[in-house]
Amino acid sequence: MRAAVQHRYGPPSVLTSSEVGRPLPGRNDVLVQVGAASVHPGDYFVMTGKPYVVRLVFGFRRPRHGIPGRDLAGVVAAVGKDVTALRPGDEVFGWSTAGALAEYACVPADHLVPVPANLSAVDAAAVPTSAMTALQALRDIANVRPGQTVLVTGASGGVGSFAVQIAKAFGAEVTGVCSPRNVDLVRSLGADHVVDYTRTDFTRTEKRYDVILDNVEAQPLAAVRRALTPTGTLIPNSGHGGRWIGPLGRIAKTRLLSGFTRQRLKPFTSVGKRKDLLTLADLLTTGQVTPVIDRTYPLDEAADALRHVAAGHTRGKVVVTI
Ligand SMILES: NC(=O)c1ccc[n+]([C@@H]2O[C@H](COP(=O)([O-])OP(=O)(O)OC[C@H]3O[C@@H](n4cnc5c(N)ncnc54)[C@H](OP(=O)(O)O)[C@@H]3O)[C@@H](O)[C@H]2O)c1
Repeated sequence: MRAAVQHRYGPPSVLTSSEVGRPLPGRNDVLVQVGAASVHPGDYFVMTGKPYVVRLVFGFRRPRHGIPGRDLAGVVAAVGKDVTALRPGDEVFGWSTAGALAEYACVPADHLVPVPANLSAVDAAAVPTSAMTALQALRDIANVRPGQTVLVTGASGGVGSFAVQIAKAFGAEVTGVCSPRNVDLVRSLGADHVVDYTRTDFTRTEKRYDVILDNVEAQPLAAVRRALTPTGTLIPNSGHGGRWIGPLGRIAKTRLLSGFTRQRLKPFTSVGKRKDLLTLADLLTTGQVTPVIDRTYPLDEAADALRHVAAGHTRGKVVVTI
């Protein structure tokens, strides 16, 4: 099968489009014929092996799996002998732990759910990690309730474009922060207010928010806290940080500080959960959430897809079609 393959950590140029063996599903796995796979900043960290802390999980000297990517949508080609919930021919989407940028991927059955009717493979592949992150941040960490004020930075990005829509679905009054070229997009996602960060620094206005999901962390924590109500919740969510431990130092500092304030300072790591993907499938079916697709790339140009993500100006999601 064709796959984007890397034999060492490095920039997108380490990826080659190669012929490799088709994986064999284990007893609880599903072999998915991949129709589309989306890429996001986490895939870039894993591909480059930086921050170095990712190598503790993905392989110390070289990437353990060699095929990047995680989120995918496609058709079930075969199932392991203990899988009863899915059958060949079913359209599914979910997340792989062994690479998604390939014609076929082996995925644990409990990482997959049926694709909602009328959703394309490209749209479905865009959903898993980014939308689960937005859902878990707003529902589980911030416990967003109707009428609360929610501010989302990076509102035009992968996580932010889902977060704006999910916060609206929860009945919040939503403010999205983005660049001028994305103001119309963020408004079209349902944001009640849009802040153009090139004109207004949201930390320097009089407005206070019950919840801030900060996907960018462009301003210091102390400044962002000024824009939070006295008992509000701040979720610093940017994965950027130092060469060795990435955002972990910043996360530890924030956790420590949270013991000394009534504000809830809650950095978190999203976790893949099948029931959350089912919740998102419902939101997609009812039209409360619609993926925003920035660009699609063919599999042979997967390196360009990752370059685009690394540039940090993604408008919604970047998807590789297979
Ligand atoms: N906690 C977790 O488990 C978890 C899970 C997934 C992702 N993340 C992290 O979440 C962050 C966001 O991910 P993503 O996939 O949404 O990234 P993304 O798709 O690259 O989006 C970033 C967006 O931010 C915008 N932006 C840049 N500077 C900005 C500023 N100063 N104010 C407001 N918007 C700005 C960019 O557009 P313009 O440049 O055009 O403004 C772009 O649309 C990443 O750092 C990622 O590592 C965390």
